[in-house]
Amino acid sequence: MTEQGSLIEIVKEFIESGKAELPVFSTSAMRVQQELIKAEPNLQVVEKIISCDQSLSTQVLKIANSSFYKGLVEVATIKAAIIRLGMQEIGRVALLAASKNQFRSSNPTLNRLMKKLWQHSVGVALGAYWLAKRCKFEHLAGHAFFAGLLHDVGKLFVIVVLDQLKKQNKDLYITEALILEAIGSLHTEQGYFLMKRWNMPEQYCVVARDHHLVDFDPKDMVLVLTRMADMVCGKIGIAAHDAPQDLTPETTLEATLLNLTEVDLAELEIMLEDTAVLAG
Ligand SMILES: [Fe+2]
Ligand SMILES: [Fe+2]
Repeated sequence: MTEQGSLIEIVKEFIESGKAELPVFSTSAMRVQQELIKAEPNLQVVEKIISCDQSLSTQVLKIANSSFYKGLVEVATIKAAIIRLGMQEIGRVALLAASKNQFRSSNPTLNRLMKKLWQHSVGVALGAYWLAKRCKFEHLAGHAFFAGLLHDVGKLFVIVVLDQLKKQNKDLYITEALILEAIGSLHTEQGYFLMKRWNMPEQYCVVARDHHLVDFDPKDMVLVLTRMADMVCGKIGIAAHDAPQDLTPETTLEATLLNLTEVDLAELEIMLEDTAVLAG
């Protein structure tokens, strides 16, 4: 067995043994999402969910005041942030903020990978949302955002498991290359498993499972939007690995299905490059 094979096996066995502690999904974030996909979301409900969660409101204000969103005056309250950004936007910021809290580790290598992964998840969420609007799938924009944010949750899960394994066995041999191999080969299957355990709607579980599948369902537009945003993020280096991938998103089936031109994709790249500031 190769070292890569063995690390993958160790992770799989640990998850299958039931001993792995699963990451938890923020209930506040779930409630915000449920409100946001309603035809007429209620401002007070969103404000209350965020304000009642201390760490969430701190993060929301941090992101709302980041250079990506920043206006002339710094906002100090959730209400002011809602007025500044609008409720739909603040709802999305709340989802980003809630997810950010999960991407932390005391192990420096894992922590660095988690940060990059969070930046990638934000990029894909905002990218899928932008594409939905651009491609006249406005009604799917909220779903595309959420699906994009969670599409690689299996990677987070595998990193969390590695973190637990490393704490149990300090001699466990893990290098960044081995970690990337493990998350690369396990994350779709484990992401699907985790999303199911979180009782997420099937639509999002499918995205976690099928976003790299060659033979994917071309009628599942949320999946197509997420795949497209994922590819563009990979191309410009907003990915779990450092080097930008050599990709031509404009020639893919996804681009054809979405009727995207090269100009659309160039605009998307510019928008995505700005999202990097959110990761700070
Ligand atoms: Fe992925
Ligand atoms: Fe991805």
